[in-house]
Amino acid sequence: MDRIAVEGGSRLTGTVRVNGSKNAALPIMAAALLANGPSVIEGVPLLRDVKTLLDVLATLGVEHERDESGALRLRVVDESPVTAPYELVCQMRASICVLGPLLAKRGTARVSLPGGCAIGVRPIDLHRKGVEALGATTAVEHGYVVARCDHLRGANIFLGGAFGSTVLGTANTLMAACLADGVTTIESAACEPEVEDLARFINTMGGSIEGAGSPVVRVKGVRSLRGTRHRVIPDRIEAATFMIAAALTQGDVTIENVRPLHLGAVIDILRRAGAEITAYDNACRVVGPRTLRPVDVTTLPYPGVPTDVQAQLMALLCIASGISIVTEKIYPDRFMHVAELQRMGADLRKEGPSVIVNGVTELSGAQVMASDLRASASLILAGLVARGTTEVSRVYHLDRGYERIEERLRALGASIRRFDDGEVPPDKPQPVTAESNV
Ligand code: EPZ
Repeated sequence: MDRIAVEGGSRLTGTVRVNGSKNAALPIMAAALLANGPSVIEGVPLLRDVKTLLDVLATLGVEHERDESGALRLRVVDESPVTAPYELVCQMRASICVLGPLLAKRGTARVSLPGGCAIGVRPIDLHRKGVEALGATTAVEHGYVVARCDHLRGANIFLGGAFGSTVLGTANTLMAACLADGVTTIESAACEPEVEDLARFINTMGGSIEGAGSPVVRVKGVRSLRGTRHRVIPDRIEAATFMIAAALTQGDVTIENVRPLHLGAVIDILRRAGAEITAYDNACRVVGPRTLRPVDVTTLPYPGVPTDVQAQLMALLCIASGISIVTEKIYPDRFMHVAELQRMGADLRKEGPSVIVNGVTELSGAQVMASDLRASASLILAGLVARGTTEVSRVYHLDRGYERIEERLRALGASIRRFDDGEVPPDKPQPVTAESNV
């Protein structure tokens, strides 16, 4: 199993390019199940989660290939399978997003229940509510949610839950509704840019979706959808991670292939922490301050602060000059990174859904363990400013959502290196120099 060693103290400078969005690509890949004909999706990153969904789609009769430009070509060759197996779904919860398109196109969907994960319990009651409102029946049988419906009909659906809207629940409901009879109105829909991008994809297939990106989405059912070509939006969470890395290390980094509009809440927090941020059409320049100011952070559905940057922001606030309160409103238990940051000398106290972060002058490198995708990113970020070497284990979590992040950080001047268990960790991983690129 791979580990990553980070030597703290380097100031990040230069330019980095963000990849296509994992969380936009996954439901869009699932939506290819709806098409008569091949779909070509550009900008799909080379990630473990993408691989897992391709394996799920393969069990559902979908062939894939990458063309010379790296675009992903998906083609349905067999419409009879309806089961997304436990072995694959348990690796990636987001596989649940095949539920809606399977139901719409094949009349039955049998998807292993995703179950909980390190960030908390993750029920799918709203997904079921959405498709049931369209006329489907759903039941849990032998660990699988089974949805059936011969004839989906448009309906008015309120999809808000205890923690606000649901991203993949909205995606599943609108994918089921786009081939239903009549008009569906989804209220309290998730407004995330990834939902908007999914609707854009379906509309180029011949769908009729209005209002995506707002809390009220209107879907007019159509008889069929054709294959299409689409480029996924840039990954705003990856962009935020690099922006925080620049701010944290007193760096000067330009992040390319970014939609600053998608990052309003993050830019606001970083500016209040003292970073200088210049937003361009498709890029952002971040200049980190000598001293970070404390800022209170509360995660919320889009356009609020994304829960997927909470851990990374906490790493930044660990060395701010004062007290910050970080409150998690989406996954109240999403604090697995706290104990690992404390191992690095962070002064953190958990109080219910909040953590009180008392900034320290310095973190110290330590052996730490990643528990989930974004927690692993926060440990890497903390390692960038810690004294000495931080060794992060279980980095397979990181590979689920970041493509070769250590190489891109090293290109910005970080002292960071990946090594596998059999190797002796480099005592002082070196930043990139002319020779090392040979
Ligand atoms: C998406 O997950 C993202 N994943 C998550 O990113 C992200 O954390 C989350 O949205 C919130 O922004 C993908 O897009 C692949 P939700 P999703 O349904 O759709 C509760 C990452 O790091 N809820 O919006 O599964 C739920 O428990 C991942 O890239 C119900 O109660 O999240 C949570 O508290 C991690 N019932 C809240 O709603 C339901 O039926 C939001 O969850 C569904 C959700």
